[in-house]
Amino acid sequence: MSYEVASVRKMTEDNLKTAFAGESQAHMRYLIFAKRAEAEGFHNVARMFIAISYAEQVHASNHFNALGLLRGSTDNLQMAIEGETYEVNEMYPAFNAVAQLQEEKGAVQTINFALQAEKIHASMYEKAKQAVEMSKDIQLGSVYICDVCGYTVEGEAPDRCPVCGASGEKFKKF
Ligand code: FE2
Ligand code: FE2
Ligand code: FE2
Repeated sequence: MSYEVASVRKMTEDNLKTAFAGESQAHMRYLIFAKRAEAEGFHNVARMFIAISYAEQVHASNHFNALGLLRGSTDNLQMAIEGETYEVNEMYPAFNAVAQLQEEKGAVQTINFALQAEKIHASMYEKAKQAVEMSKDIQLGSVYICDVCGYTVEGEAPDRCPVCGASGEKFKKF
């Protein structure tokens, strides 16, 4: 990504980026573990995972800020657009090609689930950036996310997810 880090020396910059990646992954991993603990009936273990995942989020955010990477929303939306666009145009198509070649069916599915949603994310961010550039907030209805594949839709949940076929009740509302 084309964002410069102003005030941190190179080795510290690399270290903070590594720490940001590690804390981000720990945050995510603990949320996934919490879901499993909940399903297994270990409610306090689940709550512990969720609480500590939040601490890792704080750590990741602090590292990100110390790197000088936090900008205003116009720049942030641009960064988000670039990330999603890279995933759509380069990363997931290339990953998909390798997964197909290696006949890794599970990977093909999860890559395709993500690829379909990232296209929508890119266009939602594009629309948002246009508004924010004019100092306006966006008009945004409810956003629904498919709990199975991450398909993203504004307005209402469909009867069936167009990407994975899950029923509309599987959507989470934001
Ligand atoms: Fe941490
Ligand atoms: Fe995305
Ligand atoms: Fe889905």
